[in-house]
Amino acid sequence: MPQRVLLIVSGGIAAYKSLELVRLLRKRGIAVRAVLTRSAKQFVTPLSLGVLTEDQVYDDLFDLKAECEIGHIQLSRQADLVVVAPATANILAKMANGIADDLATTLLLATDKPVLAVPAMNVRMWHHKATQRNLAQLRADGVHVMEPDDGEMACGEYGKGRLPEPEAIAVEVERLLALPSRADPLAGQQDFMGDTGSLAGQHVLITAGPTHEPIDPVRYIANRSSGKQGFAIAAAAARAGARVTLVAGPVQLQTPAGVIRIDVETAREMLSAVEAALPADAAIIVAAVADWRVADAAGQKIKKDGSGQPAPLALVENPDILATLGHHAQRPKLLVGFAAETEKVADHAQAKLAKKGADWIVANDVSGAPGESVMGGEDNAVQIVSAQGIECWPRLPKHAVADKLIAKVAHALSPSAD
Ligand code: CTP
Repeated sequence: MPQRVLLIVSGGIAAYKSLELVRLLRKRGIAVRAVLTRSAKQFVTPLSLGVLTEDQVYDDLFDLKAECEIGHIQLSRQADLVVVAPATANILAKMANGIADDLATTLLLATDKPVLAVPAMNVRMWHHKATQRNLAQLRADGVHVMEPDDGEMACGEYGKGRLPEPEAIAVEVERLLALPSRADPLAGQQDFMGDTGSLAGQHVLITAGPTHEPIDPVRYIANRSSGKQGFAIAAAAARAGARVTLVAGPVQLQTPAGVIRIDVETAREMLSAVEAALPADAAIIVAAVADWRVADAAGQKIKKDGSGQPAPLALVENPDILATLGHHAQRPKLLVGFAAETEKVADHAQAKLAKKGADWIVANDVSGAPGESVMGGEDNAVQIVSAQGIECWPRLPKHAVADKLIAKVAHALSPSAD
C-alpha cells in the first residue's frame, strides 16, 4: 500500500508549484489526493491536478455530490500526512484559530494525522506579528511548519516568503512519512512526536555550527564543526512541539521543519542573536564558537609584502556565549552546554559546568583524524555531566542523541520534575 498524502493547495501565486510537488511525490511512490481552496482555483485548475494525481480533486463543490460517498472526516483521515502547500497567511490564520469555513479548513480541523504547512506569502505578510503569532501557535499545536525561502517575490519585493523548492518539500514529506510513530493508527499530533516527550508551549534556543572570524574580506578562522548535532537537536525539539530558535553559524544544512533559523557568521553576531531571542525556557548551546578572533580584521585583502614574512595576526578572545547566558539576568531555566574535548573528557566537562554556570554539559570526545572524528561525522558518544553526576550514553547516531537529549529536557521542564 503506497503512503498517502492529502495535499491542500491554498490560493497564492506559488500554487502552480503544487503541480511539480505532486509529480515529485508520485515519482517517490507516494499517492497524492488534492484539495483546492476557492482562491487556489484562480491559480491552478482541478483538471491539471487531477491528471497528475490520477485521482478526483476535491473542492467546496464536492460537498453536495460526494458527501454521501466519502465524508470529509474520512477524507481527512485516509492520508498518512496532510500537507498544506502553499499555505497562505490566511489559511495559517484559520488553522491557528480552528476556523473551519470551507472544505480545506474543515479537513484540517477534522484530521487526526500529522500536518505539514509550507508557507508562501509576501515578505511583509510573513514578518507581520499576526502571522508570526499564528505560526508560533501552530508549532505549539504540533503542526510542522517549513521555513519559506528568501528571494525575489512575484510582487517585485525581496525577502523571506517564497515557497521552498518543490524538491525540498518532497524531501520533508518523505522525512515526516518515515517517522516511526506514523505506523500507529491512533497517532495524533502528540503521539506523532516519537519518544521526545512534549515541549508544547516552551521556547527552546539552540546554537549550532562553527563561527567564521574574518582575517580580511577573503580569509577567515574556522573549525571543523558541521552543525549536524545542533540541527538534529533543533529538529527533535520542534517535533516535541517547542517553539525553536536556531542560531546557526555558516553551515550547508537544511532548516529542520518548524524551526526559526537565524544565520550568523561570527561569535559576536551569534551572541547578539542569542540575546535578542531571549527569554527562553531552555537553551542548548552546541555551536563550536571560535575562541579567538583577529583583533583588527583588514578591510582589504592582505597582500604579501615581498619580505617572505607573513603578516602578524593579533588575536583577541571572543565572548563566551554559554557563560554569558549562565550569568544573564534572563538566564533560561535550563541551560545546556556542550564540551568538545580530546582528553580527560569528564574532568574538563566538570570544570566547564562550574565555570560557565550551566546545568548540564554534554561532553564528547572529538579526538580522531578528520573524517573519523565526531566533528563532521554521523555518530556521537556523549556523557551528560551535571551536579547529579555523570550519565554515559552509548555511541548513537546524532539524531538519536538529539531525541534522547530532548526527552531529558522535556522531562526536566515538565511541571512534575523536581
Ligand atoms: N562556547 C560558547 N562561546 C564560546 C566558546 C564556547 O558559547 N566563545 C560554548 C560551546 O558552545 C559549548 C561550551 O561553551 O557549549 C564549551 O565549548 P568548548 O569549545 O568545549 O570549550 P571552551 O569554552 O571553548 O574551552 P576550551 O576551548 O578551553 O576547551
